[in-house]
Amino acid sequence: MVWHSLFVSIHAATAILGLGPILAIGLAGALPLEPSAVIRLARPVLRLVGVSLVLMLLSGLALAWLDGWAPARQGWFHASLALYLGLGALHGVAMGATRGQASEADGSARVARLRKSSWAMSAVVGLLAILMTVRPG
Ligand code: HEM
Repeated sequence: MVWHSLFVSIHAATAILGLGPILAIGLAGALPLEPSAVIRLARPVLRLVGVSLVLMLLSGLALAWLDGWAPARQGWFHASLALYLGLGALHGVAMGATRGQASEADGSARVARLRKSSWAMSAVVGLLAILMTVRPG
């Protein structure tokens, strides 16, 4: 029980503190800022998100293990894993947009890619939170 509480706490705190900041990229991308400023903000946020995704997976697997792998036999768990993979792919797209030096020409295209992938990531995180709380079979 203590371990369950510990891993649920890690799972929930990481979702809020580690994945919540993704919203900052979408918001910054919607402001009239220089593309280089948005990219500079996105880099550390995406590093935090990368570490947090690993922590989410490990704490989630630990919770399933503590429950005798019962969740692994349920539909919501498989759907969550598929969404989690989608989240990883979107993270890769966003990381790609921050790599290297942005030129004048491709700065706005990079910010557009960052903005879209960040809103999509936030939507998937919200969906995952609902799915894991409701656990519909
Ligand atoms: C990355 C985004 C994720 C988010 C936002 C998220 C969110 C949540 C939330 C809000 C809960 C409910 C906690 C509670 O009320 O007890 C939960 C539970 C759970 N999550 Fe996740 N989760 C994520 C990823 C994962 C992954 C990748 C796995 C599996 C490898 C996982 C496995 C679980 C399990 C097994 C529970 C059930 C805990 C229990 O038995 O109470 N989660 N998650």
